[in-house]
Amino acid sequence: MSEENFIANNFTNLPDTTSYTWSSPSNIALVKYWGKNQNQTPKNTSISFTLSNSRTITILELNKRNKVDNNILFDVYYKGKKMDEFKSKIELFFRNILKYCSYLKEYSFKITTENTFPHSSGIASSASGMSALALCIMSLEKDLDCSMKEDFFYKKASFLSRIGSGSACRSILGGINLWGKHVDIEQSTDLYSIKYPFDICKDFLDYNDTILLVDTEPKQVSSSEGHKLMKNHIYAEERYKIAQKNVTKLKSILKNGNLHSFTSLIEQEAMMLHALMMTSNPSYVLIKPNTLKIINSIKSFRETTKIPVCFTLDAGANVHVLYPKEGENEVKLFIESELKEYCKNNSFILDKVGTGAVQL
Ligand code: PMV
Repeated sequence: MSEENFIANNFTNLPDTTSYTWSSPSNIALVKYWGKNQNQTPKNTSISFTLSNSRTITILELNKRNKVDNNILFDVYYKGKKMDEFKSKIELFFRNILKYCSYLKEYSFKITTENTFPHSSGIASSASGMSALALCIMSLEKDLDCSMKEDFFYKKASFLSRIGSGSACRSILGGINLWGKHVDIEQSTDLYSIKYPFDICKDFLDYNDTILLVDTEPKQVSSSEGHKLMKNHIYAEERYKIAQKNVTKLKSILKNGNLHSFTSLIEQEAMMLHALMMTSNPSYVLIKPNTLKIINSIKSFRETTKIPVCFTLDAGANVHVLYPKEGENEVKLFIESELKEYCKNNSFILDKVGTGAVQL
């Protein structure tokens, strides 16, 4: 599919008012997306687990406008409170998708949104938030175009989400998702994410992810700034090659279920992401002393118990603890007794691989 395939027809059957609600999950990357092209396509392929409990629920209400001009008219509410600080990112999103959804020009909008995780938890809500909004828009488009197939609905929802926030394109479908062209994966594309198309050992279908909230302050550097720093980064080209190789390595790990190889690959990816930030110009250190304490604790727990628990990181200080169902009670006890104390207000979120976005 090319970008042109996503340009909607000029519809004449627009309803005066309508409303849609979607609940969309966050996701955690196993092979990280870090570095992008101008049109928000990725420099390398990424693979992620879709989460279950960390979600955004968004209601999009649309009202037909009397007069159509270039202004985008909308208000955003978070848990009932008007949030003008969210507007610039959403306005940019609307402007960037108008080419593909020209019917949106005819409407003004009210967006009401809330996360199931604390708003100031340091967990990026852009993936769940942008995908929930994109899905609401696609529900309108589906009502306008009755012939739309389900496959196209989800592809375009992922395509629009990507324009809002790159990693958001991996939050539509459940299980494991893959985004970005890879020479060995025919169906892969930079335009949208696909459901991971190969065999997956059953251990990975219900993998646990406990998110340890180490730092709940806003990030020092946004991920869009971070991606920009890859432009002239001394290690950029090498990183993109390694990421492509790690996708190939992860493909055989996901099939054969070698959890010890999984832990080393996942931790290498997390550390590489932060090594890239620490060696960019300007450089950033986003991990905190407690992040390191947790990492070391996880490594020694794994060494002693042989339970294949590992960590991964986003562009921040919080730690995602990944572990299989087998041995989960021991890991949960370990989190309670040893890791919780390194978290802000002892707080963490129990999450796991989930089934994807749902319309409410
Ligand atoms: O989608 P963005 O622009 O917020 O970038 C996300 C980047 C990472 O979360 C660090 C990695 C990833 O692949 O999700």
